[in-house]
Amino acid sequence: MTTEKKMTSNSETYSIYTEYAKDEKIILHHGDSLMFLKTLPDVSINLIVTSPPYNIGKDYEEKATLEVYLKNQENIIKLLYSKLKSEGSICWEVGNYISNGEIYPLDIYFYDIFKRIGMKLRNRIVWHFGHGLHCKNRFSGRYETILWFTKSDNYVFNLDSIRVPAKYPGKRAYKGPNKGKLSGNPLGKNPSDVWKILEDDWMAAFWEFPNVKSNHPEKTIHPCQFPIELVERCILALTNKGDYILDPFCGVGTTLIAGLKHSRKVIGVEKEVEYIKIARQRIRQFFDGDLKFRPLGKKVYQPTGREQVSKVPPEWKDYKK
Ligand SMILES: C[S@@+](CC[C@H](N)C(=O)[O-])C[C@H]1O[C@@H](n2cnc3c(N)ncnc32)[C@H](O)[C@@H]1O
Repeated sequence: MTTEKKMTSNSETYSIYTEYAKDEKIILHHGDSLMFLKTLPDVSINLIVTSPPYNIGKDYEEKATLEVYLKNQENIIKLLYSKLKSEGSICWEVGNYISNGEIYPLDIYFYDIFKRIGMKLRNRIVWHFGHGLHCKNRFSGRYETILWFTKSDNYVFNLDSIRVPAKYPGKRAYKGPNKGKLSGNPLGKNPSDVWKILEDDWMAAFWEFPNVKSNHPEKTIHPCQFPIELVERCILALTNKGDYILDPFCGVGTTLIAGLKHSRKVIGVEKEVEYIKIARQRIRQFFDGDLKFRPLGKKVYQPTGREQVSKVPPEWKDYKK
């Protein structure tokens, strides 16, 4: 069985390995995460970034009790920890598990698992998105979280690579020894731990990545794809060029694309063959220069109020609360 597929795009030849191969740039494995992870060398990965199955009964998962689900996840997390380099990080992106109308925020449960194995939480990032289901019995959910854990106190954090323009770059200190001097950083400000779609893009206090939905340029058939942009921020901040990024539940390969965009080595595992095929296709499109994605930091479209759909329809004019 060959584990290497040589591919030629318009511009270059690249190989996708299906099993671990030392120093290779792209490894995309079709199979079960737990089994595959056992084949990776210990202490070899710089960043693990993933959105695991949420146990909410999507096509690709069998719904288990919360206890069974968490136990299975803990087994994988322990293995992931052993593969991580000491200066490495894990970014774990999750939403809610829902049972009988009650919500269980998964990050609360995952926090304990990561703490038990000795990892340290550096940020609980709120990823806010503007669209989704409209709930009738509770407030509509409009965010998920990313738990960023490090293995040690000596970790990579490249703040300058992800700074965003300051709201008031011309602000100066008004007292003290620096009175009159510019108080900000010419490269921009720290983007904060709330990532939200922007009213006025980089100029607003929040960021947001549009949730990957039907009219988004990156959308594939995957029901829970995350935006490339979300992963790019984690990769730029938490790794350096040439580092290894691993996504143990890689779906249609979003993490791999984000890593390749920034000259990292990438490893992805996915159990559904249809998603693997799409991941391969997206990688090819990426090398061909044909992959559609929102450029990092591109403005999110805001209705001007003049579009027909953003006006209150005449039928609703007389409705009162
Ligand atoms: C939330 S989705 C991740 C989507 C991904 N972030 C993307 O942008 O395409 C979780 C993925 O994990 C896969 N999966 C679930 N259990 C798995 C396992 N044991 N081994 C490998 N993949 C698994 C599912 O098929 C699903 O595609």
